[in-house]
Amino acid sequence: MKCAIPRMIHYTILFQLLLFGLCNCFDTISINSHPIRDTDNNVLVSSGGTFALGFFRPGKSNYSYVGIWYHKIPEQTVVWVANRNNPIKDSSGFLSIDTTNGNLVLYPNRTNQTAEVVWSTNASSSACSPASYCVAQLLDSGNLVLLHNITKQVIWQSFDHPTDTMLPNMKLGIDRRTGLNRFLTSWKSEDDPGSGNYAYWIEPSGSPQLFLYKGQIPWWRSGHWNGIGWSGIPAMAGKFIFNLSFVNDNNEISQMWGVLNSAVLSRIVVFESGIVERFNWWYDQGEQEWNGVWSAPTDRCDQYDHCGAFGLCDSSNAEQFECTCLPGFEPGSPTEWYMRDAKHGCLRKPGTLICSEGDGFVNVENVKVPDTSNVKVISSGLSLKACEKECLRNCSCAAYASANISEGGSGCILWHGNLTDTRKFTAAGGQDLYVRVDERELAQYAKKQKGMLVSKKALIILVVSGVTILFSIIFFAYWFPQRKRRGLRKLCHDANVTSEESSEEDKLGQSKRHPDLPFFDLKTLITATNNFSAANKLGRGGFGSVYKGQLVDGRDIAVKRLSKHSRQGMEEFKNEVMVIAKLQHRNLVRLLGCCIHKEEKMLIYEYMPNKSLDYFIFDEARRSHLDWTKRFEIIIGIARGILYLHQDSRLKIIHRDLKASNVLLDASMNPKISDFGMARMFGDDQIQANTNRVVGTFGYMSPEYAMQGLYSTKSDVFSFGVLLLEIISGKKNTDYINGSSLPDYVNGSSWSNLIAHIWELWKEGKVLDIVDPKLCLPFSAKEVSKCIHIGLLCVQEGAKDRPTMSAVIFMLANETSIPPPSTPAFIFQKDASHNPDPSMSSSAEAVSCNSVTITTLEAR
Ligand SMILES: *[C@@H]1O[C@H](CO)[C@@H](O)[C@H](O)[C@H]1NC(C)=O
Ligand SMILES: *[C@@H]1O[C@H](CO)[C@@H](O)[C@H](O)[C@H]1NC(C)=O
Ligand SMILES: *[C@@H]1O[C@H](CO)[C@@H](O)[C@H](O)[C@H]1NC(C)=O
Ligand SMILES: *[C@@H]1O[C@H](CO)[C@@H](O)[C@H](O)[C@H]1NC(C)=O
Ligand SMILES: *[C@@H]1O[C@H](CO)[C@@H](O)[C@H](O)[C@H]1NC(C)=O
Ligand SMILES: *[C@@H]1O[C@H](CO)[C@@H](O)[C@H](O)[C@H]1NC(C)=O
Ligand SMILES: *[C@@H]1O[C@H](CO)[C@@H](O)[C@H](O)[C@H]1NC(C)=O
Ligand SMILES: *[C@@H]1O[C@H](CO)[C@@H](O)[C@H](O)[C@H]1NC(C)=O
Ligand SMILES: *[C@@H]1O[C@H](CO)[C@@H](O)[C@H](O)[C@H]1NC(C)=O
Repeated sequence: MKCAIPRMIHYTILFQLLLFGLCNCFDTISINSHPIRDTDNNVLVSSGGTFALGFFRPGKSNYSYVGIWYHKIPEQTVVWVANRNNPIKDSSGFLSIDTTNGNLVLYPNRTNQTAEVVWSTNASSSACSPASYCVAQLLDSGNLVLLHNITKQVIWQSFDHPTDTMLPNMKLGIDRRTGLNRFLTSWKSEDDPGSGNYAYWIEPSGSPQLFLYKGQIPWWRSGHWNGIGWSGIPAMAGKFIFNLSFVNDNNEISQMWGVLNSAVLSRIVVFESGIVERFNWWYDQGEQEWNGVWSAPTDRCDQYDHCGAFGLCDSSNAEQFECTCLPGFEPGSPTEWYMRDAKHGCLRKPGTLICSEGDGFVNVENVKVPDTSNVKVISSGLSLKACEKECLRNCSCAAYASANISEGGSGCILWHGNLTDTRKFTAAGGQDLYVRVDERELAQYAKKQKGMLVSKKALIILVVSGVTILFSIIFFAYWFPQRKRRGLRKLCHDANVTSEESSEEDKLGQSKRHPDLPFFDLKTLITATNNFSAANKLGRGGFGSVYKGQLVDGRDIAVKRLSKHSRQGMEEFKNEVMVIAKLQHRNLVRLLGCCIHKEEKMLIYEYMPNKSLDYFIFDEARRSHLDWTKRFEIIIGIARGILYLHQDSRLKIIHRDLKASNVLLDASMNPKISDFGMARMFGDDQIQANTNRVVGTFGYMSPEYAMQGLYSTKSDVFSFGVLLLEIISGKKNTDYINGSSLPDYVNGSSWSNLIAHIWELWKEGKVLDIVDPKLCLPFSAKEVSKCIHIGLLCVQEGAKDRPTMSAVIFMLANETSIPPPSTPAFIFQKDASHNPDPSMSSSAEAVSCNSVTITTLEAR
């Protein structure tokens, strides 16, 4: 039997052989070594092979620069430039140690020794004399250091002189002892690494903040350091692999971040377009490119001072105008405000009597607090109540907030003067800001809140009494499907794509709830799928068929056409559009748009050439294409996708129907989670929910969900565990028959499932027996058994005992101690043998051996 090595890995090996085979790899320059010459094309390579230093020509430029770039990846990504503002116009440059003072120097031309140097480390000449003691070394962190040969004292380092890129363990900020300020500056253009317009630094005054400046103008601000993170970056994307540290003392004010997983390359770059972006590259997992995981500014509310003084920016309000005023304030220039120009900001409402007896505060929740450059910070442990008192004592105090929101943290920030650049967050992560108002305003806010409580009660009464009305509405909706369509059209439509019908409907419903989800018209899809021909059909899902199609621009798409009269499908359709339109992650399938035409409802996805995971892992022949490396990548990919759903996206989402057939594979076999018809959005503080309608797929459902309808992120963890064990064993959980070693749990039946079997083998210490014999390449037994161990943790009976997805990823990626699993939950399906596809059964009996209950479930 021959097995295919995935092409990608093959190339990586080849590539590394090429690089390491050809270069004479050294990482230091000393007075004795040959200089690095532009004409020789030689480079320094750090000891671990991560970074290289040498001459390069950026983009279309003919000028030559000395820089540092990643050595491990094929795409040249420059992270540092020595002579960024002083290029060499020919190829005569060379880099060596100055024989007189030991500095590392870039010379333009050897023939003229008196010629001016292009660039130098410029350390004082006494630092390492004689010069023979000076050594320049490229470290594996990407730091170029000039150090003393014997004492190892660092005389100069490139991390102290960053260009446009911040790397792990590199400090940004000010050394108060030496006055050194480390900050990033963008390039001028792709072809010119010279100092550009945008700079990114820590502003030390007041409560420290990160600022992006365009020339002299503040462009974006991170919000102050609130003890946990920067208050304006609530979603520190992918935070599970980073650790942040922030220091503010007499010696320095600095920020630094590290990567906990050494397999990931990560960098933050300031671009000449005025964007700061963080990129990750999981190079050891065959990723082909940098993936942007966070960037700023991203919307209008991110623009510094977008709503003026005392304004409040709320981008979820963009249908009207994103700018409003803080409590007690009104637009300074109503006409301009009406024209959606808020730069004049807001003023106190006329007649306000600030600084009188009855002053109080209105809490503006979940915001990036105003600019803290000019605030008074009281860091000694004042409670919020004491902050309020402190603010009331001074008439010019306009607002206060907590200085440190980490547990046990305290202290206040007091604002005097303008409150600038306040923005509201839709997802959690912001802070509470207490804005000072007078007695009258305070009374109005109190009344409003009371009103809200009252109206909540009224709502309940309305709901109860309105059930009958609801029924009649449903009745009417049934007879007037037109209305329904119009409502749905609000879910997905696009101003650019118009058909006769859609333009008419646009007039009817101007509301754009998902302006980023394009609408496809039926004609386009009929052409793309060859009129939904049988030849284009990819398969049948729960609520309809899936077709392959090709758009006029050549893009391949997959069209999910929902069954026309499925009422159930309608709900799932709406749900899927609502959920997935807001999500973007490389391990989630991308929804490109949707289409609604009369009874037709369709979802348009990116096309996945390699079908789904079950197509591979449950097939004798195809299974052998997936070696251990690939399977491990798939496991990690799925885990990352779920983690994104659970905690890293703006929403908290429980998928509820994770299974092999819902994991699609792209051209490079990267897994993408699909089918969000069952998914549920959770509030941030919500832990568990209950449903009367248990939907999902047998074999993947956690016991508490199957038995009691309780679902939480831990039910997805359970499904993930089953999936993981299936990937390793190549066997379906439900299809597994084993008549030998297992005790008879259920009525003398010799039936069991995969989990039970693995558990038996685990207890006997023979767990590797379960590994798919088709895993042909040599694989690490240690790694595989670690995976099985983690899989068993995920399928434990008690939801509380199961790890979170972030813990799962951490355990998968790191060498850590893993707790022993307790007995897994066994769910037996009695009649699975008659039912090759368990997902198609309309009802099935479930028995849990731990809580011997029998429930009839509605499974699809
Ligand atoms: C680079 O050199 C080529 C050939 O000498 C020339 O045509 C081109 O304009 C140069 N490009 C720049 C950016 O100077
Ligand atoms: C070095 O400079 C001299 C005179 O400035 C010039 O003639 C020579 O071609 C240059 N050498 C190289 C390698 O460019
Ligand atoms: C060497 O460089 C100096 C300073 O740039 C210049 O004045 C001199 O003419 C150069 N000599 C030659 C031979 O090019
Ligand atoms: C080297 O440092 C001195 C002062 O320490 C400064 O005046 C000079 O401009 C620096 N030169 C370079 C090339 O950075
Ligand atoms: C390190 O220092 C010693 C003197 O103790 C010197 O002989 C040697 O050349 C130096 N090594 C390098 C690489 O410069
Ligand atoms: C991140 O954590 C590692 C290991 O705990 C530690 O060595 C490193 O210094 C930390 N880095 C930062 C920036 O906190
Ligand atoms: C109020 O605070 C401002 C700003 O900190 C300060 O200049 C002023 O002296 C304070 N006034 C009183 C009465 O404390
Ligand atoms: C915030 O409070 C925590 C807990 O008291 C403390 O460890 C941390 O140093 C504080 N951070 C700042 C920036 O004051
Ligand atoms: C406060 O805002 C107003 C209106 O935008 C502006 O005119 C004034 O200069 C600002 N004051 C300060 C101290 O920035």
